[in-house]
Amino acid sequence: MAPERFHAFRLHRDAADGPVCGRFVELGVDDLSPGELLVRVAYTSINYKDALAAAGLNQIVRQYPRIGGIDLAGLVVQSGDPRFAPGDAVVVHGFGIGVDHDGGHAEYARVRADWALPLPAGLSLEEAGTLGVAGYTAALCVHWMEHNGLAPGGLPVVVTGASGGVASVAIDILAGRGYEVVAVSGKGDADGYLRALGAARVLAPDAAAGAGRALDKAQWAGAVDAVGGEMLAWLLRSAAPEAVVTSFGNAGGAELHTTVLPLILRGVRLIGINANSPMPLRQAVWARLASDYKPRHLARIAQQLPFAQLPEAMARMRERGTRGRMVVAL
Ligand SMILES: NC(=O)c1ccc[n+]([C@@H]2O[C@H](COP(=O)([O-])OP(=O)(O)OC[C@H]3O[C@@H](n4cnc5c(N)ncnc54)[C@H](OP(=O)(O)O)[C@@H]3O)[C@@H](O)[C@H]2O)c1
Repeated sequence: MAPERFHAFRLHRDAADGPVCGRFVELGVDDLSPGELLVRVAYTSINYKDALAAAGLNQIVRQYPRIGGIDLAGLVVQSGDPRFAPGDAVVVHGFGIGVDHDGGHAEYARVRADWALPLPAGLSLEEAGTLGVAGYTAALCVHWMEHNGLAPGGLPVVVTGASGGVASVAIDILAGRGYEVVAVSGKGDADGYLRALGAARVLAPDAAAGAGRALDKAQWAGAVDAVGGEMLAWLLRSAAPEAVVTSFGNAGGAELHTTVLPLILRGVRLIGINANSPMPLRQAVWARLASDYKPRHLARIAQQLPFAQLPEAMARMRERGTRGRMVVAL
């Protein structure tokens, strides 16, 4: 049954070049962006992009008002598409939700049926909501590294921005698959958390210092990078021959100043990761998240919070004050 009214956290820009501010509002279904599926949101989360969008940063959202939240997991309530029926559990991320289509930060969302992934067997709605787009991104990094030859038993795999949502899941998946994982974190107090996820060693970001050299000591068989900038340049310099470096984030900067020498002298492969994949790849990688990639410590990674705390938690994420996955249980 469609609700009469429900709650949403909606971003507004009241004056053309004024600040963006978010507020809790009561809406009806017709206030939502259109789509064939009406979904009762069970879980949504806070991703770095959501936290930036909520403060009007990086021009992520261009039209207001907009409900943020780039991922959600929930139950179909109404369907105008024969592939889905009321009661079906679905996961939705990307395709512009939370950016140019109303997203998951609401009790209900309307989405295109083409964007909805049926909940894979082997995952509960809570697990899928905790993983969200971050878990998918982490799994995609592992998928492409292994596709390019990475296998357990060699040099370590390094994960940067390690206490963050994507990186926490990546550490958990990699350690579960038998890789020796080295975590790089700027949070002095994250050591115990990262080791509990399976990191064998934890480094401070100053390990990445030493700009100027084209090649450093070869240390890594693989890398999962949340940070970009100087950190990614260091990962390339210190990657071993034939290593696979995946770049998914720019938490520390979007520029990349480096040389081609790691690529042409060591055969290092730099792979870009974009979680907004076509549906067949999503289905394949989510199926692995529900089986052999399934993280073992999701309960430790999840920081569940009530809906009312969403704005405060997004502000904390912008100040680098969060850890793991910030999950909103609706
Ligand atoms: N390519 C894609 O499709 C895709 C998908 C998802 C996310 N992303 C991007 O990936 C990045 C991480 O996303 P997330 O959701 O995991 O965010 P998150 O939970 O906030 O994690 C980011 C982590 O990066 C580190 N960090 C934050 N600010 C930093 C800074 N100024 N300099 C260096 N390190 C910093 C922190 O880890 P420590 O404190 O432990 O160092 C932080 O926990 C973001 O840039 C996001 O936009 C991209």
